[in-house]
Amino acid sequence: MLKLKPVDLKKEIITALIIPVCEDQDIHDDGILSLLVKKALELKEFKGGKDEDITFYNPPEVKSERVIFLGLGKLEKIEPELLRQMAGRAVKKCTTKNLSEILIAVPAAKKIKLEMQTVLEAMLEGGFLGNHTFDKYKKDKKHKPLKKIDFMVKPEVAKKFGKLSSRVATVCKGTILAREWVNTPSNHKRPDQFTRSIVTYAKKEELKVTVLAEKDLRQKKFGAILAVGAGSSSKPRMIVLEYSPKKAKKTVAFVGKGVTFDSGGINLKSTAALKAMKSDMSGAAIVAATLITVAKQKPALKVIGVIPVVENMPSGNAYRPGDIIKSYDGKTVEIGNTDAEGRLILIDAMSYIVKKYKPETLIDVATLTGACAVALGDKIAGVFSFDDKLAEAIVASGKKTHERCWQLPLPDDYKELLKSDLADIHNVSSSSWGGAITAALFLSEFVGNTRWAHIDIAGPAYNDKESAYCGAGGTGFGVRLLCDLLEKP
Ligand code: BES
Ligand code: ZN
Ligand code: ZN
Repeated sequence: MLKLKPVDLKKEIITALIIPVCEDQDIHDDGILSLLVKKALELKEFKGGKDEDITFYNPPEVKSERVIFLGLGKLEKIEPELLRQMAGRAVKKCTTKNLSEILIAVPAAKKIKLEMQTVLEAMLEGGFLGNHTFDKYKKDKKHKPLKKIDFMVKPEVAKKFGKLSSRVATVCKGTILAREWVNTPSNHKRPDQFTRSIVTYAKKEELKVTVLAEKDLRQKKFGAILAVGAGSSSKPRMIVLEYSPKKAKKTVAFVGKGVTFDSGGINLKSTAALKAMKSDMSGAAIVAATLITVAKQKPALKVIGVIPVVENMPSGNAYRPGDIIKSYDGKTVEIGNTDAEGRLILIDAMSYIVKKYKPETLIDVATLTGACAVALGDKIAGVFSFDDKLAEAIVASGKKTHERCWQLPLPDDYKELLKSDLADIHNVSSSSWGGAITAALFLSEFVGNTRWAHIDIAGPAYNDKESAYCGAGGTGFGVRLLCDLLEKP
């Protein structure tokens, strides 16, 4: 569906040609493209400014029914994310017109002072991701996805980067799978159903799949997962996905928070806070989709995904504030608030993974705290680690993929705030400040000496409004990030 393609504009018949336009410089190295851009810029209503566009129908210079010019703004402001958004906008514009194929002109990398690989990756990603809509529940499917998205490049570029489009497509399919899971309503992804869906996708790949059902969780004493899941009629599960190639020397483990609906439990959330709580399994979706992607990419690394899945509901069987529970690793936890459930299911999964697999690196991904979204907004995730190198690597992958992350501290003295008079630890802080930090510190008590990082995606996991290459709803934030991270030595 995605293709880098050398095109002779004089000969080729094109349905829709998209030309990105810079406000203050010609960024193309094809005579016809430059000529068309010059003509467009002569019009009063188009200056090439960011988000401007104009369409020519059947211009004499090319055999294209329509040529759509998309403004990028000033040269100094052109960065990979702008190209990603431009490609997403291009695709969306054409799907709303019910077209089925487009050709997007790729700017000359030198003229925009970027590496060709960076330019191509960004444009391919924006195009692929922008072509997805979640319309499973609509009778009237308004916009069909494009069947063909071609990118016009020089023949030598098409040859050199021949494998890039399928690599990008593989990763973006992971992002889209995660988006679909997050967008699925909670009544259709209760723990048993969500588990089945993950297992179905995982089994299509070379992954070892293990599911611990309620009975197994009881037998192995996963006290925290069982406590959180107790209020729901759909019982908890824990899924383990393993990708283990023979030549692997190192093991990376991911844990993803899988709360299929977070009502808050007995500490019931407010109406406003309940609204997006079907997305509280985003960490699980990210980890499962990453493992499925990894199995297609086949790196020489062992990768494990552990996904605890529960529904946090109030009922006569639900766990209560004041309860004391025993976690998998033996520590007792006093429940201060049943809405701080994510950290509980994570500690059981993390201590299990540390004990059973002894991974070199452990990373958990979770929509853990509203406090993190308050601190960093809804576009940036919080990263916590005692290992600054690991945190920096995550932040760097975030920069590259534009799944942005910001490191927050893990101050030792804040651990005081988690003290309990009756149990080994409290699941909430005694202070109402710094909730993202105290949640991360709570997790840190259960990873032993393992090199560990926690990524709080409460902000960026879910979009209220659609953006250039993502519809409203689940964003799949984290799949591209983790896949990029795994490519690093
Ligand atoms: N799932 C929520 C966190 C969340 C909030 C995710 C907003 C996405 C958007 C989590 O389980 C939660 O409820 N956390 C509480 C913790 C508190 C009780 C200490 C919170 O953030 O308020
Ligand atoms: Zn909660
Ligand atoms: Zn939650």
